[in-house]
Amino acid sequence: MISSTKLHHRVIGNGIPMVLLHGFPLDHTIWYPVVDILAAAGIQVILPDLRGHGLSPSPEGVYTMNLMAEDILNLLEDLGIEKAVLVGHSMGGYVSLAFSCLYPNRLSGLALVSTQASADTPEKRQSRLNMVQEVKRYGVKALCGTMPLKLTNNEVIQQKIIEIICRTTPQGIIGALKGMAYRPDFAGRLPSISVPTVVVGGLLDAIIPMESFKLMSQLLCKAWLVEIKEAGHMPMMETPEPVAGALCELAQRVFI
Ligand code: MLT
Repeated sequence: MISSTKLHHRVIGNGIPMVLLHGFPLDHTIWYPVVDILAAAGIQVILPDLRGHGLSPSPEGVYTMNLMAEDILNLLEDLGIEKAVLVGHSMGGYVSLAFSCLYPNRLSGLALVSTQASADTPEKRQSRLNMVQEVKRYGVKALCGTMPLKLTNNEVIQQKIIEIICRTTPQGIIGALKGMAYRPDFAGRLPSISVPTVVVGGLLDAIIPMESFKLMSQLLCKAWLVEIKEAGHMPMMETPEPVAGALCELAQRVFI
């Protein structure tokens, strides 16, 4: 039985609790470009590293989205927070959707950033399992070739992403790859999410098409879409101002 893990995290500012979850194979530092704007707007910014990433532990096993959602619940418990806004980037979005299904009473608002509700296609699942073998053979460097290029066109950000990947452990990467490969489809659950939700997507995203962002925002009952023309898969780093603006608006709508 795999149990939940204490996550490394940072807390910045005071106010409305907002937990920002990074994608794969990244860490909490991807959110730094938006933190000051959020904190100045009266938001308590909580930045965990998901299990297997950043400075959090990398236990053995498959990191299911439910297990990673349980880690977030335990973090809220440790911080004495009853309800929080969850912001999930890509894999962090899959974790946020799992959290929304498991612990709806602990959620006050949701932001789905460069993420999708659908499960992997069989081809995508197979490519993740192939990547597990590559990481076993070559270590985390197996991800440093094409992955940063898919995440963004911005070369400075690509370099930062490579640095983050190099700080990650093979065991952490493998746990997350397997967890994503076997994650369920959340699309059918979207209509039952009752909190205000903003969907943020970049038109240049090479991983998730704009159509998926649009469909998700249509299936959610209290959602709006923020489409960012100049952003790829890393809008919080590529275009921090509109992303921070969307999150500040979400925080306002949550507490109206
Ligand atoms: C991420 O950024 O978290 C990944 O691209 C998600 C995925 O591979 O599905």
